[in-house]
Amino acid sequence: MVRKSKRSLVQLPTVVLTHPLFPEIVRQELEPFAHIILAKTPSALKKALPKADGVLCLLTDQITSRELDRAPRLRAIANFAVGVNNIDLEECEKRGIRVANTPDVLTRSTAELALALLLACARRIPEGEAICRKDAFSGWTPDYLLGLELKGRHAVLAGPGRIGKETGALFQALGLTVEYLSRSSSSLQIRQALGRAQVLSLHFPLTPDTHHWLDSKRIALLPRDAIVLNTTRGPTVDEKALITALQKKRIFSAGLDVFEREPRIPAALRKLPNCVLLPHVGSATLQARHAMARSAIQGILGLLNGQRIPNEVKLKK
Ligand code: DGY
Repeated sequence: MVRKSKRSLVQLPTVVLTHPLFPEIVRQELEPFAHIILAKTPSALKKALPKADGVLCLLTDQITSRELDRAPRLRAIANFAVGVNNIDLEECEKRGIRVANTPDVLTRSTAELALALLLACARRIPEGEAICRKDAFSGWTPDYLLGLELKGRHAVLAGPGRIGKETGALFQALGLTVEYLSRSSSSLQIRQALGRAQVLSLHFPLTPDTHHWLDSKRIALLPRDAIVLNTTRGPTVDEKALITALQKKRIFSAGLDVFEREPRIPAALRKLPNCVLLPHVGSATLQARHAMARSAIQGILGLLNGQRIPNEVKLKK
């Protein structure tokens, strides 16, 4: 990649950032190699797109044919996320625009958060914490705030990718048994696995075939003491059906880091004691987020330079 200097200024690509990310990392790793336009709002992005050779965006930015139509020079997009459901990959492929994401670097952080949700659900930690904060702890009794012991329970991980596997390893370390479902599992395999899923943890990427993968019919197959965890994308679960199941105590609990219409969290869900809710923080560790910034920057520069890069997203046919 060409470095900024007085003589080479004209050759540098223009990269539109939809968020300043971590300014020190951007200053050191992107600024020397690109003209940067910061476009933090949809209208700023609209204005910047005609000049963009590359776009480095967040999972909250929708990159559809509408945005691509405004970007005739665009050659590369890097998503600051491993999930790329916010980008129309087919349109990108048609137009010869290459796409990168940030896999691997957030695997451990996201798996650790799934584990934290599991423990929080099983031991009703937010309920207990809220009691203490309200000064409502009225004394120890034998049947107070009973939860579930996890050792020996059976976990089904829907999605045997990097994060699913890492989460499975953490669950195993805790003494759970684990099995995996893939997108190609047969409906019989899915039904049987759900019937024994005392823990069901979702890890599928969001695609048309995983939209509402966990629906009311599948929830009905779960054991009554099941804990459902979602750290991938909200729409993989039919949120309404899950709320109904939690309201009727059809399952024990749910730990949700993601929601169907983020950042909106339905009031009905917020009122329920038998769920643990987090604001999409799976990868929110300093280590992961810094590494994601570096990975996205290397991705956009590599693609603009015409290189083969390990984190290029290929359309699954
Ligand atoms: C991702 O990378 O897809 C995550 O959801 C970000 O936390």
